[in-house]
Amino acid sequence: MKPATTLDERVVVRNYLEAGDERALADDVLDGLTRPFKELPPKHLYDAIGADLFDRICEQPEYYPTRTERSILLDRAAEIVALTGASELVELGSGTAAKTRILLQAMGDAGTLRRYVPIDVTEGMVRDVARQLTEEHPELTVHGIVGDFERHLHHLPRPDGPRIIAFLGGTLGNFTPGSRRRFLRALAKLLRPQDHLLLGTDIVKDPAIIEAAYNDAAGVTAAFNRNVLRVVNRELDGDFDPEAFEHVAFFDREREWIEMRLRASRKLSVHVGALDLDLDFAPREEIRTEISAKFTPERLRSEFAAAGLELVELLTDPDGMFAVSLSRPQ
Ligand code: SAH
Ligand code: AVI
Repeated sequence: MKPATTLDERVVVRNYLEAGDERALADDVLDGLTRPFKELPPKHLYDAIGADLFDRICEQPEYYPTRTERSILLDRAAEIVALTGASELVELGSGTAAKTRILLQAMGDAGTLRRYVPIDVTEGMVRDVARQLTEEHPELTVHGIVGDFERHLHHLPRPDGPRIIAFLGGTLGNFTPGSRRRFLRALAKLLRPQDHLLLGTDIVKDPAIIEAAYNDAAGVTAAFNRNVLRVVNRELDGDFDPEAFEHVAFFDREREWIEMRLRASRKLSVHVGALDLDLDFAPREEIRTEISAKFTPERLRSEFAAAGLELVELLTDPDGMFAVSLSRPQ
């Protein structure tokens, strides 16, 4: 672990990724790309370039989740803060914390704001956000964690007052169902009786609307998807030709999730130098790079119950496109 980096006395950023991070990518490539159906976990989509591309996705007209979640938070942040009395906001997969600002502002207005704890795999974003937010809020301290929220939650600082753990943007939908249940259970255990989970989840709707969001006309999602191959090339000395892979995203109506895949446009051979690994792709063979599950309010309720969480509030926009839920340990 790197020593704590103090930007000024109100900011600490700790990096827990250093040891074994390339190993994690190497393990995922070795394991995921040698399976009968090739796949890679979505966290590797987010190097600095991937994080920028994700930001651009959020601005595409077809990608409704970000602006809808933002509108719900703008309408209901004061209520969320009043209900929770939170003085501390822990955010998993914090990214650029664009929507988080709405919550921090509401906590500031309520006079409860003390600490923000962003956790993300992308170091630059954690550092930038920590610096910007302490500048914007003189009363705020930031304890940033550069890490994997599936592996590093035990590094969270000791709570400083009632806590909201925020997991926004629908990122929970990027877990497979088994990991999702395990993760929700871990969060339920982490919450004390005075704490709340604030979760953003996309809602099941007309598949055409969902599919359009993952197939934007400007091709930004396609570039985001292919970027994972550039990450493998750079980090593991691979020779993928990203342009030889077609972006595919479709809504699986039975499982109620989007699957994002990369499809080989022809027969391809790829070498991953750092792993001394040769990979063969048949024409049209695919790599699954992400799932993005969509929820019904009923399923949310039952998944919360199975994880030991009690739903306190389910907040949606007038068109029922996206949900922000507040829950607490049972
Ligand atoms: N919460 C923001 C960003 C969502 S994008 C929003 O709502 O707009 C998903 C974010 O989660 C990215 O910033 C990515 O870097 C981060 N992320 C993905 N997998 C992660 C993991 N396993 N551990 C920590 N951060 C992760
Ligand atoms: C971060 N996550 C919730 C996004 C989603 O919609 O599943 C990632 C994304 N993938 C393609 N577009 C956006």
